[in-house]
Amino acid sequence: MAEAMAELHPKVALDVYKIREDFPVLGRQVRPGVPLVYLDSTATSQKPASVIEAMNAYYRQHNANIHRGIHVLAEEATAMYEEAREKVKNFIGAASSRQIIFTRNTTEAINLVAYSWGLSQLRRGDLILLTEMEHHSNLVPWYLLAERMDLRVEHVAVTAEGVLDENDFDRKLAMGPRLFAFTHMSNVVGTINPAKTMIAKAHQAGAVTLLDGAQSVPHFRVDVQELDVDFLAFSGHKMCGPTGIGVLYGKRELLENMPPFLGGGDMIKKVTLGAFKPNELPYKFEAGTPAIAEAVGLGAAIDYLNKIGMDVICQHEQGLVRYALERLREVEGLRIFGPSAEKKGGVVSFLVDGVHAHDISQILDQYGIAIRAGHHCAMPLHEKFQVPATARASFYLYTTFEEIDRLVEAIYRVKDIFGV
Ligand code: ALA
Repeated sequence: MAEAMAELHPKVALDVYKIREDFPVLGRQVRPGVPLVYLDSTATSQKPASVIEAMNAYYRQHNANIHRGIHVLAEEATAMYEEAREKVKNFIGAASSRQIIFTRNTTEAINLVAYSWGLSQLRRGDLILLTEMEHHSNLVPWYLLAERMDLRVEHVAVTAEGVLDENDFDRKLAMGPRLFAFTHMSNVVGTINPAKTMIAKAHQAGAVTLLDGAQSVPHFRVDVQELDVDFLAFSGHKMCGPTGIGVLYGKRELLENMPPFLGGGDMIKKVTLGAFKPNELPYKFEAGTPAIAEAVGLGAAIDYLNKIGMDVICQHEQGLVRYALERLREVEGLRIFGPSAEKKGGVVSFLVDGVHAHDISQILDQYGIAIRAGHHCAMPLHEKFQVPATARASFYLYTTFEEIDRLVEAIYRVKDIFGV
């Protein structure tokens, strides 16, 4: 089977069938005789055994609180946690591990910037620039702040094709935003934004930049120094790691000047009654006992992705999305949202005429196919497309071309059932 698929799709450089053996859940049947076809990696990725085992090993052999105890287990746990930070630093090309702050997820990382940088640096009437294709996690924190501080918010328009409107971007930059926060890759239409150019333009306009890397960091090489981005936020669980761990990267001078976000243990250098002195980076932003096992799991996920190679993963997904678009375009009455394959990552949102997205998802589930249906935490983008919901199939390094064939076959069954 593997050979046959490789012949059919000669550009495949990655042995997807071998990779699948690393992911225990991919071997399961969702009901008797119905194997799982997991096409929901944009929501969360599956985890390889090496990640699950690294977290197990941490709890079985090393568990202790970090940065506190002077005993073997505490020192081992601290070393493992800090080693994970080092791996993250190298993975995104940061200059120093002090610039890597562990958070719960992308959402918390963005909120950290909003409440720490935003509250301390922005002034009444300042402008925040976002885009119409943002996930709610890169909209709502800014709306909350705008309400509280009386800020203005503008959004770069999305075209009918599902890409950002360059002219509108230039027009809005000319309004002098203090911050430009945008997604690297849309979680709905998969559009990959030209981040480097956009960051350079935003800097010229005097804005600080925040990149939502939740969908980019797991799928292709992202280098913070090459991008010259001020803040980058991403989550562990979308990149083969566990839930409950995310990352905020920031430029050193910005982070140094930001007040703590949460107060508590570990984020202080000294506390006296009535006062405190914050700890140095990155601990200043890591109050309380952090997600230690999860950081270890994220470190193992990075090792796993590095072993395969981000360029190989990206190439595999490019092949998948090209193939998926080609196959889905064959289906009469199927509307695909978003741009052509060369402008996007492995995410395809679609609708079948006369069928609600939830019905599509429910019928696909009968065939073992897991997709997401709804607004995908991006209601404004759906409003722009004038649809309440879409069905979304998303791919990762373990997705096969055969699974896309199964998706298309099942969509034909949806059409049969609804007589459309
Ligand atoms: N942001 C995740 C998604 O797009 C949850 O599904």
